Amino acid sequence: MRVVLLHHLFDEDERKLTAKGWDIVVREESPLIPTEDEIIEFAHKADGLVTFLTDRITPRVLDNLTHLRIIANCAVGYDNIDVDYATQKGIMVTNTPDVLTNAVAEYTWGLILALVRHIPAADRFTRAGKFNGWQLDLFLGDELAGKTLGIVGAGRIGTAVGLKAPGFQMSLLYYDKQRNVKLESIGARSCNLHELLQASDIVTLHLPLTRETYHIIGEAELSLMKPTAYLINTARGPIIDEHALINCLTTNCIKGAALDVYEYEPYVPEVLRKLSNVLLLPHIGSATYKARQLMSHATVTNLIAGLEGKIPPNLINPSVLEE
Ligand code: GLV
Repeated sequence: MRVVLLHHLFDEDERKLTAKGWDIVVREESPLIPTEDEIIEFAHKADGLVTFLTDRITPRVLDNLTHLRIIANCAVGYDNIDVDYATQKGIMVTNTPDVLTNAVAEYTWGLILALVRHIPAADRFTRAGKFNGWQLDLFLGDELAGKTLGIVGAGRIGTAVGLKAPGFQMSLLYYDKQRNVKLESIGARSCNLHELLQASDIVTLHLPLTRETYHIIGEAELSLMKPTAYLINTARGPIIDEHALINCLTTNCIKGAALDVYEYEPYVPEVLRKLSNVLLLPHIGSATYKARQLMSHATVTNLIAGLEGKIPPNLINPSVLEE
């Protein structure tokens, strides 16, 4: 059995694979993000493949990896993989849900607070030796209590973000295809996207990236938001039309944004990097010791199960088993 890891996992999880006596090959992560050709060349004859969200597993890659039986993605999102095509080819695909839900939800609140209270800018100011004494109007920001949080996408992570809102005394709106009983039990109201954008003071995105959610926030949607509102994206970059967001932030059509993800990640446009009303983070929503260890662990558990003929706990495309 040949297992190819396009990136290192934590040592103890790599040891679990080695202990199986399989042929384990780990790519040296240089460059960090492999090209299609590099993936094809490196994963040649792999039965199992470990991927990160940065690795694009296209139909061409899948056509060239003729031995492949399972792709274990070390992420909850799997928009980097053409799952329909993998299913057609009889290849299992797994992800790592649940283990990172709380980490991303806490981080989302961290971004909200950092944004509305200018925490990163105030830190830079202090380090620059500019703090000369208490001032009545130094770094004034907004308060959350009494405001409305709009959650776009009330799945696992959106729900976890919402469940922390009562501590901040915020009202809750959510937009999702399905009703969310947990959120409604704490007073959240379901509404359509337009109403949510018009009524929210903070809009936070928690959708997976799919054909339906691509650019779901564009110029028209941004123009519905209040000029005093903030936008948070810890989901996937292409959910927002980044060009439209840059125009909006440049003309102050909303008050600010915090972005953990980008449309052409890891490329972050220079014009965005120059704006002072946006916080820019390097896709670290799930980056706690606990979540990342559990993600690495779940990746290997899924991979081993698949290769040993069992149903992987986080199989995304169960129909593959029927073929
Ligand atoms: C991170 O973005 C993930 O999908 O796990």
